[in-house]
Amino acid sequence: MKNLYLIGNWKQHGSQAAIEAFADQWSSEQHPRLRIAIAPPFPYLQALGEALANCDLAAQDCSVHVQGAHTGEVSADMLVDLGCQYVLVGHSERRQYHGETDELIAQKVAAAQAAGVTPVLCVGEQQAAREAEKQDDVVRAQLRSALATSQPNLLIAYEPVWAIGTGLTATPDQANQMHAMIRQEVESLLGAAQATPILYGGSVNAENADALFACPHVDGALVGGASLEAASFMAIAQSASNNLSH
Ligand code: PGA
Repeated sequence: MKNLYLIGNWKQHGSQAAIEAFADQWSSEQHPRLRIAIAPPFPYLQALGEALANCDLAAQDCSVHVQGAHTGEVSADMLVDLGCQYVLVGHSERRQYHGETDELIAQKVAAAQAAGVTPVLCVGEQQAAREAEKQDDVVRAQLRSALATSQPNLLIAYEPVWAIGTGLTATPDQANQMHAMIRQEVESLLGAAQATPILYGGSVNAENADALFACPHVDGALVGGASLEAASFMAIAQSASNNLSH
């Protein structure tokens, strides 16, 4: 029986007050096979962990270094120390705006696994690649590079860049087909396809979540904008619970 994963990515949003407001509306009652986590900015990890029962903590990034003279960096060990279960690695915004290369991303996957925090490896093609029908090639290359030195314990998030924050979503068919390809690739690289949850991300909301969760190869969602308000995030959680109860 499959589990579903729902991870909220707050990006550079949030405040102490926003966490209190979120916690006021939060319901800790969840389906036992639904794993929920939220990735707030680093300074709010601890407050969020204390405010929300039954919600795992995720970070949005980690350093490749264990410690040392690396001003501004946060190590995977520090994330474990704060109680993080997951860390996003290779989000398209880090690739695009912070110069993260495939090589660096592979090092981050390995650093997270060495510290004992589960990486959520983000992959996905730009709009031009989708228009040229090159999406499989792009994602396959990202996986091959990022997983070259990876252990099997990770999650993958397929996030087509053209769908992030745009209100455009991959159709359930597009998501399912890509996830099936990713699963095959993970099998050949790590031999762990069945055990590797593959999440979809890109404008997931309460309206489109049902159809995405219904896809056989979709094991959950990575949610940006719709995770900032407890009401919309919990509506997506409800949709995941309904799917698990069928
Ligand atoms: P979005 O963001 O849900 O706002 O499209 C998803 C993400 O970037 O992880």
